[in-house]
Amino acid sequence: MANVAMLGAGFIGDFYTFSLHGQRNRDHVVIIYSRDKERGKVFAKKHGIPRWTTSIKEAVNDPEVEVVVIGLPNNLHLEAVKLAAAAGKAVLCTKPLGRNAEEAKQMMDLVEKAGIMNGYLEDLVYPPKTLKALSSVRAGAVGQVTWVRSRETHPGPHSDWFWTKEISGGGVLLDMGCHCIEIARNYIGKDIRPVEVICWADTLVKPIDSEDNAIGLVRYENGAVGQFEVSWTFRGGMDLRDEVMGTDGTIWINNFLRTGFEIFTAGGKKGYVAEKTETDKGWLFPVGDEVVELGYTDMFTDMFGAFEKKGKAKETFYDGYIVNEIMDACYRSATSKKWEPVRLKVWRGNKKTPKISGIRDYDKDHIFIKEETMPDGKVKIIIKNKKTGKITQRVKSIVP
Ligand SMILES: NC(=O)c1ccc[n+]([C@@H]2O[C@H](COP(=O)([O-])OP(=O)(O)OC[C@H]3O[C@@H](n4cnc5c(N)ncnc54)[C@H](O)[C@@H]3O)[C@@H](O)[C@H]2O)c1
Repeated sequence: MANVAMLGAGFIGDFYTFSLHGQRNRDHVVIIYSRDKERGKVFAKKHGIPRWTTSIKEAVNDPEVEVVVIGLPNNLHLEAVKLAAAAGKAVLCTKPLGRNAEEAKQMMDLVEKAGIMNGYLEDLVYPPKTLKALSSVRAGAVGQVTWVRSRETHPGPHSDWFWTKEISGGGVLLDMGCHCIEIARNYIGKDIRPVEVICWADTLVKPIDSEDNAIGLVRYENGAVGQFEVSWTFRGGMDLRDEVMGTDGTIWINNFLRTGFEIFTAGGKKGYVAEKTETDKGWLFPVGDEVVELGYTDMFTDMFGAFEKKGKAKETFYDGYIVNEIMDACYRSATSKKWEPVRLKVWRGNKKTPKISGIRDYDKDHIFIKEETMPDGKVKIIIKNKKTGKITQRVKSIVP
């Protein structure tokens, strides 16, 4: 059981508190920080929180508080981490950790120097489907992971500050690219070094200084590639999809929009359907339990479990820092229009990871390339001669 200070009474503060207080949970928010007193009071009443304040410092230093959860706009993450580190309290911070890698590294250094438990709240590596997929990948179900594609698109964020570069630090690449990059990193292997990136980013639709669309490739040392596709101008709701391609298998996950739950309403549902849904009429795609299906419940189970056992969460500030470094490289690439190196100042993974290889022998003289059953029933086997390098095919008939 842990007592929590929730910093931020907005969208994510609400989701986090629902998740912490849901399902008869034992962790409790004991104080809520909101810059607006009335809003803090309303939030506190709604969630059964005993105290509210308009001072971040007061929330962090509340004597009952053991864990500080940061759900504030991006420009306030560092300030909140400084206060938590000074108070020696465990701290969990939402994504992106920093507005850039420099800020993220400062936060990582602060918590590590203070020796406090820290967690990077990347919920989208914790949805139940993703947890199962990750354990399948680790058990070897898809062989070696070669390519992960992660797509996060919606019609744009819900508050003014996201659209203001000085506060947010960037556009959709920073806001949603961080999810996709960490999802791919989890599937490919967090110990495998990300080496370089190529990225396209542009402002196609909105009147803003930041990018509202971006696509990028992150190349890892073993040759695997993480592909992200993000947009703040996608119409039709929130599209969250992941694909994993390996030497021996494939995984497709649809986290939102098409989860197997569909409602048609001619008159309209009237009100909230699911995050970023654009209509409440016609065919709707609700989500059964958003806090579970978006990973918040399993994320906090991991984080608070680690806090209780004085252990390490699966996602720490170090992971948040790595993601920020990858995104900084993406911004450089979007400008230079070239592959740009990921300049990691801290790396704790493998020193060297060998290149992916799915090579296996067909017989003592040949390497197997591919086998396929053709429409006429014949089976073609394509092989490569080990000495000459020549590629040939053998055809077997399976039709009697
Ligand atoms: N899936 C996710 O993990 C996820 C989803 C949404 C947002 N987030 C992150 O959560 C953080 C907050 O986003 P949100 O969606 O809750 O935003 P929001 O606008 O809904 O809420 C932000 C809160 O901070 C307060 N705030 C705004 N400006 C402030 C200021 N200058 N000083 C003090 N308080 C201020 C607002 O009043 C509000 O209570 C961001 O870092 C965002 O990236 C994460």
